[in-house]
Amino acid sequence: MKALEGVKILDFTHVQSGPTCTQLLAWLGADCIKVERPGVGDATRKQLVDVEGADSLYFTMLNHNKRSITLNTKNETGREVLERLVKECDVLVENFAPGALDRMGFSWERIQELNPRMIMASVKGFGPGPYEDCKVYENVAQCTGGAASTTGFLDGPPLVTGAQIGDSGTGLHLALGIVSALFQRETTGRGQKVLAAMQDGVLNLCRVKLRDQQRLQHGPLSEYRQFGQDIPFGEAVPRAGNDSGGGQPGWILKCKGWENDPDAYVYFITQAPAWKKICDVIGKPEWKDDPEYATPPARLDKLTHIFDTIEEWTKTKTKFEVMDICNPLDIPCGPILSMKEIAEEPSLRDTGTVVEVDHPERGKYLSVGCPIKMSDSAVEVERSPLLGEHTIRASGAIGEVTAQAAE
Ligand code: COA
Repeated sequence: MKALEGVKILDFTHVQSGPTCTQLLAWLGADCIKVERPGVGDATRKQLVDVEGADSLYFTMLNHNKRSITLNTKNETGREVLERLVKECDVLVENFAPGALDRMGFSWERIQELNPRMIMASVKGFGPGPYEDCKVYENVAQCTGGAASTTGFLDGPPLVTGAQIGDSGTGLHLALGIVSALFQRETTGRGQKVLAAMQDGVLNLCRVKLRDQQRLQHGPLSEYRQFGQDIPFGEAVPRAGNDSGGGQPGWILKCKGWENDPDAYVYFITQAPAWKKICDVIGKPEWKDDPEYATPPARLDKLTHIFDTIEEWTKTKTKFEVMDICNPLDIPCGPILSMKEIAEEPSLRDTGTVVEVDHPERGKYLSVGCPIKMSDSAVEVERSPLLGEHTIRASGAIGEVTAQAAE
């Protein structure tokens, strides 16, 4: 028994944002039927190809535990099959460009006519407003949701982050909306429309920066490094480099080997209760009682000097040695792990956070497993489906229509 067992999902998603959402739901037990264009499929199947003739990692890593049927929604038979699917499924998830579903003949009104219990969940780039008709990809969302303007260094251009907060982040938001709508349907008996806009999703994850925008009206942001460097603040929240996003100052510091290893760094947090231990560890016991350093407010205008001093110590240790020394003292810090290190980390394999999956076209590959661990709903990661692999079986399970005929 899985948490979402019995929930049937008509998965009209493609690329990354929507597939992230439906993959999560599939891991939690939903039966996820991915509907793809005959002969073409999700565009990511053939993007960033590393093994000729095989589905790309881009596709396989976002579409585990799903079934795939091919169906041409632009001909009559295809639409007929789709109508049956709408009647039999609980949730329709899509992330087409705005208006595409309407053009297929499946407006929200029509879907409600066909199945009043249907939950129709969409990712769009923007919510209602001036940009609602725009097509959007990850980095557009990062730029319009406040992430890019607040990421990077003060003297550099805006930066996008490697974390796919626009796509995967919004997929996560949508999944929560869908599960909540399923829960509400238990009471109302009705489905509903669920929208997660990528701009909104990114902004939600940048909440602390909107906090700082308002704090800025009451004076400089003293926990930002530039405060102690006497660099004036402008009208908007600046790029903060590696400053911590909260009230405990932090920075990324070089460790032993940094000259040759681009990831020989550690994130080091000078959490107030650990201050005295930090002073002892870095060989500055005199800072413990020096009024210039002893309290958090006194330290705020000296963060650059303080972190430079700590770095003199971290440079004498590997990032893992820093971790080994600091953790028992409750000094929060984290080594900068490369993707290679993460891929090879045994503890992540043990928990199923990194999994090895076998695929008929490409053989074994690594993927990221389900990041949510539930005691009563175990996740077994299954390979992604080949294009149309379940056309007959999936359609057989949901009705008498053979979707293949719709091609
Ligand atoms: N049978 C027939 N036609 C199909 C089909 C099927 N099974 N599945 C899709 N199509 C058609 C659609 O009807 C649409 O046709 P139309 O434009 O003639 O109405 C077309 O395929 C493609 O849809 P679209 O979404 O416009 O694809 P795109 O490749 O041009 O744009 C995005 C891609 C991601 C930019 C766009 O889908 C988008 O902005 N989505 C919302 C935001 C989002 O999720 N972005 C992040 C992606 S990671």
